[in-house]
Formats: sequence, structure tokens, C-alpha cells
Amino acid sequence: MVDATARRQVAKYLEKHESDVGRYLRERAVESIYMPRAPEHAVPANAVPELYDFVASTIGNRAIVYLEFGVHHGRSIKRIAERFPHPEARFFGFDSFQGLPEAWQGRTPGAFSTLGEKPPMSDGRIGLVEGWFQNTVPEFLAGLSVHDAPVLIHFDADLYSSTLFLLTTLWHHIPQYFFIFDEFMSDEIVALHDFWRAYPMALEFHSQTNAGGYPAQIFGSLRKVRFEPGQFNSPV
Ligand SMILES: C[S@@+](CC[C@H](N)C(=O)[O-])C[C@H]1O[C@@H](n2cnc3c(N)ncnc32)[C@H](O)[C@@H]1O
Repeated sequence: MVDATARRQVAKYLEKHESDVGRYLRERAVESIYMPRAPEHAVPANAVPELYDFVASTIGNRAIVYLEFGVHHGRSIKRIAERFPHPEARFFGFDSFQGLPEAWQGRTPGAFSTLGEKPPMSDGRIGLVEGWFQNTVPEFLAGLSVHDAPVLIHFDADLYSSTLFLLTTLWHHIPQYFFIFDEFMSDEIVALHDFWRAYPMALEFHSQTNAGGYPAQIFGSLRKVRFEPGQFNSPV
């Protein structure tokens, strides 16, 4: 049984060192997963439309399955759908529409809420799934058939918890996919790192927006592989 004084001491220690711990986790993730694979192709900082153009030219105008986690007002899902005009392409956007479930980077829980309103979508190929990912995504994936369609996943949930939940859940259902991370250098890279340490996969980055040499948004692909001890995913 831990007594109250010891608990207070631990809490004080964590509060004092929280930002150092966060920095350490990010730096470790950058060294382990980003540095060895930094992409040759990059677009300028904030050139998100150009990054999406590169994504579209890499995948081609095919009947893709696109899953976007974090829709808010629908800006990115519309931009992506415009770049894949194939009539059989399918686009699914997932969001609570109640905002973030927990505080993040100075924002309070509920940030990005649309008060439960789904943004209107004029493109009939786009469907929106309302609810917390932890409740909606497992059931959705169980009913999804992808066959040979290229899959593009857009991680735009900002949070470590949401992103790690999605990565680990998708691993069981979709053996390979392209991805975009939208807030990569904050908590998403740490989630990708922790996922990469435990789940056997091959990981590549193809392009990024360049913010001081580091990516703000990043485009890449991952493929589930068989586990071989010592072969994959050792930290630096
Ligand atoms: C940065 S916004 C998405 C921005 C959007 N892609 C755009 O183009 O503007 C992040 C979204 O993730 C959603 N979100 C984060 N974690 C979630 C969770 N566990 N379940 C459902 N929605 C979540 C929030 O509701 C929020 O709308």
C-alpha cells in the first residue's frame, strides 16, 4: 500500500519533469523511426494541398478505400476526395463531433467540437461515422471488405491515446496501407513509435511538409510482417 506522502512526492516529481519526459519520448521516436527513413521528397511548410497532390499521384486515381480519423468541419476529407475522382473510391470519416476526449497541448477536452453536427458532404462517395473511435472503429472494421483496393488512412486525431488505439486496432484488419499523419511531431510520432516497437511491421515515409527540416504532416506506408526476434523494430 503506497502511503499519501509517497504519492504526493511522485505526483510532484512527475509534474516537475513532465515536459522533459515528453521531450525525451519525442526525441527517441524521431531517432528511432523518423531519422533512418526521412523521405527524399518534401514540400514546403504549410503546403498541405501539394502534399495531397503527391499522395494522389503516388497512389493513382484508383478505387481507394480512405479512412479519416478526425474530421471536424470536413476540410481534409473533401480535399482528399477531390484528388481521387474514381467513381468507386470510398471515403469514410470518423469523429465524435464532440471534440477531443481529453486535454491536449493547452486545449481543453471538447476542443474541435461541432456540438454534434456533422459537416454537410455533397460528394455521395463520402460517409461519416459519428462516435468515439474506441466504440465505432472495431465494429466498422469487422464489416469492411477491402479486397485489393489501395487503402489510405489519415490520422488526424492529435492525441497519443486516440492514435495508438487506431494503429493497434487497424493492424488486425488491414495488412498494408498508405498513411498521412497530420500533427506528426507532437504526440502522433510517439504513438507510432510505441506501436512500431510492439507490432511487427515494415515502415516507410514517402514525403512530408517541411517545417525546419522536420515534418509537420507526413505521408508513408506500412505493411504488417511476420515477427522474427531481433530482426525488426529495435530502438536506436
Ligand atoms: C484536428 S481535428 C481534425 C481536423 C480535420 N481533419 C480537418 O481537416 O480540419 C481532430 C478531431 O479528432 C477528433 N477525435 C480525437 N480523438 C477522438 C476519439 N477518440 N474519438 C472520436 N473523435 C476523436 C476530435 O473530435 C476532432 O474533431
